[in-house]
Amino acid sequence: MPRKMVKEMSNQEKLLEIKNLKQHFKVGKSTVKAVDGLTFDIKKGETFGLVGESGCGKSTTGRTIIRLYDATDGEVIFKGEDVHGKKSAKDLKKFNRKMQMIFQDPYASLNPRMTVADIIAEGIDIHNLAESKQARMDKVHELLETVGLNKEHANRYPHEFSGGQRQRIGIARALAVDPEFIIADEPISALDVSIQAQVVNLMKKLQREKGLTYLFIAHDLSMVKYISDRIGVMYRGQIVELAESEELYRNPLHSYTQSLLSAIPLPDPEYERSRQRMVYDPEKNLPENGEERILREVSDGHWVACTEEEYNKLKKTVTV
Ligand SMILES: Nc1ncnc2c1ncn2[C@@H]1O[C@H](COP(=O)(O)OP(=O)(O)O)[C@@H](O)[C@H]1O
Ligand SMILES: [Mg+2]
Repeated sequence: MPRKMVKEMSNQEKLLEIKNLKQHFKVGKSTVKAVDGLTFDIKKGETFGLVGESGCGKSTTGRTIIRLYDATDGEVIFKGEDVHGKKSAKDLKKFNRKMQMIFQDPYASLNPRMTVADIIAEGIDIHNLAESKQARMDKVHELLETVGLNKEHANRYPHEFSGGQRQRIGIARALAVDPEFIIADEPISALDVSIQAQVVNLMKKLQREKGLTYLFIAHDLSMVKYISDRIGVMYRGQIVELAESEELYRNPLHSYTQSLLSAIPLPDPEYERSRQRMVYDPEKNLPENGEERILREVSDGHWVACTEEEYNKLKKTVTV
């Protein structure tokens, strides 16, 4: 990509601004700091990948952004408006339409007693988006086709579908209210590898056609590169590295990112056998003076959690 285009991308309009977001859960007498000070932007029309191992706080981040939970601290700004500051039911409803969520488990997230038509039309009903029964059904049929299913599927029940098809139904349900922003929480993790690419391709196609913005959550780095423009790597409630996808894969700077990359299986069996897996040990290489590692911009758009001294060293290695 020419330098200029990269610059232009970084000047793109911010759709979402997340500032020092925290979500702490009280469990008995202790506190789980599931999300502990996240700051990042998502630009209009991009896919922002959020990656990290199970339990690092990805789903909690998504749920807090979409306001399934009230934040413990911090701000979520959507198109310049503070999401969590909204109070009136009317405002909340208007806002709910713009943000939708797709879930990991297409089995658990679809009500087994509802027909596909009723599942997809849920948002249409809540927001009164259809003037008549016929208009509602037309919209359902159109959505089914948009996601690669067909009209005949409308009156069936979720158990009659495969995992990939159910995820398509989940996508149709999210699209029904014409959202601008979709949080996809590990939408392909529960699917067969052969089906994963199909669902990712469908999401990419929909993004192009509808100008959607995605937060795409994943627990490993294998598929995310393919869909994400930028990626944030999350570890224990914080972002440890953030960069454009290409850059992150080519030049991972944080040892946790390096360990995630070393865990991606490669197609060459011989090389694969001889390959070293890296295991990240957070107790290793702790800063001697107890200094906290904070996110710093080492090169254009490439952020790494590091100490001041590490930052100065990294800056030297990345200058061209
Ligand atoms: N509602 C909750 N109450 C208490 N702890 C929670 C709750 N939801 C998540 N957690 C804890 O917060 C941490 C992050 O969870 P989660 O966001 O689901 O991680 P991920 O999606 O990355 O696997 C975990 O330790 C989890 O047990
Ligand atoms: Mg999760």
